[in-house]
Amino acid sequence: EFHLHPRDAELASDGAFGKWDLAQLQRGMQVYKEVCAACHGLKFVAFRDLTALGYSEAEVKAIAAGFQVPGIDPNTGEANTRPGLPTDYFPSPYPNSVAAAAANNNAIPPDLSLMTKARHDGGNYVYSLLTGYRNVDTFSIDGKKVKEEFPEFSTPPNTHFNPYFANLNIAMAAPLTTEGQVTYAEGQPKATVDQMSRDVAAFLTWTAEPKKVKRTQVGWPVMGFLLFATILAWMAKNQVWAAIK
Ligand code: HEM
Repeated sequence: EFHLHPRDAELASDGAFGKWDLAQLQRGMQVYKEVCAACHGLKFVAFRDLTALGYSEAEVKAIAAGFQVPGIDPNTGEANTRPGLPTDYFPSPYPNSVAAAAANNNAIPPDLSLMTKARHDGGNYVYSLLTGYRNVDTFSIDGKKVKEEFPEFSTPPNTHFNPYFANLNIAMAAPLTTEGQVTYAEGQPKATVDQMSRDVAAFLTWTAEPKKVKRTQVGWPVMGFLLFATILAWMAKNQVWAAIK
């Protein structure tokens, strides 16, 4: 395939010894809330799930209340919206897919809950995609200018060249473009485009597999037990057959 393999976002949760970096997950949540949530939902994540990232109940309440979720007017029975509660799920920003398409030049922004699972090497992919927008006129691959190798190749109106995207031209304009676009709390790393991209990739890795770290951690004592049981079985076998030479 032509499109580029993701670059390494070096997430703390990577690998068999991975751990969640809660400060990073909170920064990523902030990037999602302030930037991505304008177009993308997170329908499999409930606000109360955010306590796993170290937020207090009061903070979860405040985050939930900042979102409008679909509701029903108790007097008229008509559909309306109301501020979110901790038990609600992150809502889709559009009432339906036609509205979503209409707002985005006919491209529907997908729900991001499981995105890092849906795409190969998902955490690294999201990071690479967000930082991967390139000028198609000057972009080269294997030292060859794409525009010279493939003069027919073009980036249609309302799409943006991004070699990490399988279709190469993506309907989403680069959402993170300026340093400090999101204001991080005191003591956090500088909100560079690279940092914000890593942070939201970390957050979306958590949304897609919140039990990932637990799962890999449980593996170690399991392996230890299996090793112990194997040695025990071997010793028992020696014991049983000791008299027979
Ligand atoms: C697609 C992430 C912000 C509009 C996508 C995809 C991802 C993503 C992972 C799917 C790419 C694929 O299919 O492989 C994000 C993140 C954001 C963000 C992490 C915040 C940092 C936005 C915003 C808008 C938007 C603010 C609208 C103004 C879209 C659209 C698509 C899309 C229309 C579909 C693109 C296509 O299929 O060509 N986004 N996005 N996104 N996003 Fe975003």
